[in-house]
Amino acid sequence: MSDNNLKKLMFIFGTRPEFIKVFPVIQEAKRRGNPLVIVNTGQHKEMLNDLLDYFKVEIDYDLKIMDHNSGLANIVASSIIGLDPIVKQEKPDLILVHGDTAATLAGGLVAYFNQIQLAHIEAGLRTYNKYSPFPEEMNRQMVGVLADFHFAPTELTRQNLLKEGKKEEIIFVVGNSAIDMFQYTLKDDYSHEVLSWQADKEMILITAHRRENLSEMEEIFEGIAEIADEFSETHKIIYPIHLNPAIREKAQKLLSHPNIKIIEPLDTVNFHNVMQHTKLILTDSGGIQEEAAQLGIPVLVMRDTTERPEGVEAGTLKLVGTKKENIVKETRKLLTDQKAYERMTESKNPYGDGTTSVQIMNIINEHQKKL
Ligand code: UD1
Ligand code: UDP
Repeated sequence: MSDNNLKKLMFIFGTRPEFIKVFPVIQEAKRRGNPLVIVNTGQHKEMLNDLLDYFKVEIDYDLKIMDHNSGLANIVASSIIGLDPIVKQEKPDLILVHGDTAATLAGGLVAYFNQIQLAHIEAGLRTYNKYSPFPEEMNRQMVGVLADFHFAPTELTRQNLLKEGKKEEIIFVVGNSAIDMFQYTLKDDYSHEVLSWQADKEMILITAHRRENLSEMEEIFEGIAEIADEFSETHKIIYPIHLNPAIREKAQKLLSHPNIKIIEPLDTVNFHNVMQHTKLILTDSGGIQEEAAQLGIPVLVMRDTTERPEGVEAGTLKLVGTKKENIVKETRKLLTDQKAYERMTESKNPYGDGTTSVQIMNIINEHQKKL
């Protein structure tokens, strides 16, 4: 039975990782009967549309802003211009954005321009380095200035927000909904051609896409090619490649090796299940750092900073930077030193128990008189 007092919620997202972590919250809001408006800026086309189909999410508005050559200013500007009339027409009681992308920033600004309350999911992650990750650090900080509800995944992220002067009563530590998503994706009985290709070897999973790493991709790929050579008797490398053409061009050139398989991005059900079967992950992704912590798979983070130090502290993640020598050295260590490897698998996931979306919706509905 729907409750007439439940507030109208507008979810705004535009990229694959936002959708993956917002989907469990949308499902929970639907279950409770809140009126919903779901807006996709369309920043990611192929990488997101298959997911929307698979999870049967009906999008109320798709701004279709993706354009292969657009820079950050264009992405943010076209998102803002597209979102503003929708917000004016729908007049939601609360807008929810997630994380640190262009859609997050545009959604946050449009909420502010229209004086609508804003909830920021996955709030408070910081490196305090303006250009790393770029532009995500500033996107997240700017939305943090605008938000009326901060859903922080951990105590450390709550502390960051408090240090910045945000009021205690609007910060809620709820874990990360990345963990909730596993209940929709993981399968006990799973098969995939990637696992057949792996055969009797162990698998290393690679992803790389960060804007600040684009000029370092040659180094990264040369390091990966060296690893493939050195461990060709024992390991295979799978690389679901991002659709950014700048990355594809370099990967095709530098990663031609019989033990490296470059494939199209996997949909998230397949990605999570393949991930579960891997020995080691090398990535510059944000979300994968959280997911691997839950699955107990060691991650070498090919970045100089991380806004997710909880995983480093817990022991699942290690920052290895983007220099070829270090990537090879740290990978070699984990593949040859069983004790070092086991230390990384024994750590505890710091991102909660998979109830983040329930907690978020409890808090929103408890506070609905304020909306
Ligand atoms: C964006 C986010 C980043 C997030 C990443 C997740 C911003 C500023 N950055 O970066 O925080 O980590 O998504 O993947 O919002 N492309 C396609 N089809 C797609 C998706 C991308 O062809 O479905 C290609 C396009 O040529 C596009 C390029 O990839 O121009 C880059 O995409 P863009 O959304 O600008 O940046 P990401 O690096 O994906
Ligand atoms: N992912 C996916 N298919 C892939 C690679 C990644 O579904 O081929 C998922 C992954 O499980 C995680 C999210 O995409 O939830 C991470 O996205 P990405 O690394 O592009 O962005 P970031 O998290 O760095 O913002």
